[in-house]
Amino acid sequence: MHLAGKKITLAVTGSIAAYKTPQLVRLLVKAGAEVRVITTRAAEDFVSPLALATVSKHPVYSNVADGAAWNNHVELGRWADAMLVAPCSANTLAKMANGICDNLVCAVYLSAICPVFVAPAMDEDMWLHTSTKNNLDKVRSYGNQIIPVAHGELASGLVGEGRMAEPEELVSHLEGYFQKKNNSPLKGNHVLVTAGPTYERIDPVRFIGNFSTGKMGIAIAEVLAEQGAKVTLILGPTHLRTLNPSITTISVESAEEMYNTCMHAFQDADIAILSAAVADYKPTERAPEKIKKQGGTLDIKLTKNKDILATLGGLKKDGQLLVGFALETTNELNHATEKMERKKADMIVLNSLKDTGAGFGHDTNKVTLIDKTGYKAELPLMSKQAVAEAIVNHISLLRDAEKTI
Ligand code: CTP
Repeated sequence: MHLAGKKITLAVTGSIAAYKTPQLVRLLVKAGAEVRVITTRAAEDFVSPLALATVSKHPVYSNVADGAAWNNHVELGRWADAMLVAPCSANTLAKMANGICDNLVCAVYLSAICPVFVAPAMDEDMWLHTSTKNNLDKVRSYGNQIIPVAHGELASGLVGEGRMAEPEELVSHLEGYFQKKNNSPLKGNHVLVTAGPTYERIDPVRFIGNFSTGKMGIAIAEVLAEQGAKVTLILGPTHLRTLNPSITTISVESAEEMYNTCMHAFQDADIAILSAAVADYKPTERAPEKIKKQGGTLDIKLTKNKDILATLGGLKKDGQLLVGFALETTNELNHATEKMERKKADMIVLNSLKDTGAGFGHDTNKVTLIDKTGYKAELPLMSKQAVAEAIVNHISLLRDAEKTI
């Protein structure tokens, strides 16, 4: 029922399990989904494109170009509400892990802006190989969801791990994803998210800034949008962008601009998540012309910026939820808890810079969630996508709890 009207791009690759995909398509169509199938060349040795075209009621594509006609992979990647790679061979998995783009399936995968589900299928020895495990970890760390393999009889005649999950299980996995999305308590909420650094101008060509890229905040905005929230992303200067249509991005440069934009957006926000690395100080005076080299030292007088989190904490009305971030290097838990109380936030995400792979610019992060009820959870090193999901899930729980009080 949760698949009704959903658009699914199914990518079939070269594994014996491909023979099950016409049945998979039938089940998806029966559940109300609209399905487009693409295949690799190798998949066609195991399943007939005609069978897939018949059950999906649409042509099946396997090449980026058919003669003079170009199959628009960007369109296929953007059309879908979810992409399912099933079966995903060891070869395609390796390509996905490394951004290789030598066929239509890889091109669509790289262009997809929807969640991607991967159902691996291979013989047990291949499945257990270290390179497969590393590829799987990489593909997972990009935010894709891996559907676990099953144990059973394999194409080699051996019995072990590596069978593709059965079509019914794949369908229920997708159903579960859309159910969560449709039933999220955040659906329809207006959420304000700040992300990225701020630049404080010294003169027309120089600024004070920091190394934040906004990756964590953008991941949070995307998870919220996936759960049906209406997101306003107030983004400091960064090259990163989001293409999600449910996210309205407002680009700002300085802490003052971010402050003013937040004050406006907070008025009708249900939740504000302040992940931006806001500069604490700005130059007291901005030089109108480029500052020329002078003696051996240069003094720049700085003035404190207004604290957005603390101001919103003071303005917060009943029913509004405020989430801050803290980056601490000593006595982390105490400082973060004190920050939450002082700034009147409902929850703090404590960032660690000490762990390898965590912090500015990395694809992974390690955080501790703290909330006003005394809850504390130290999460392991995870992809920023997975951290974003954990943060959003905890916010949903807080929101649910507030509603039932
Ligand atoms: N923050 C903000 N406005 C500022 C500075 C920080 O909204 N001018 C927010 C950040 O987005 C983050 C939280 O406050 O959510 C914590 O920022 P941090 O700089 O660690 O806090 P400070 O209170 O400045 O504490 P410290 O003494 O550690 O610098």
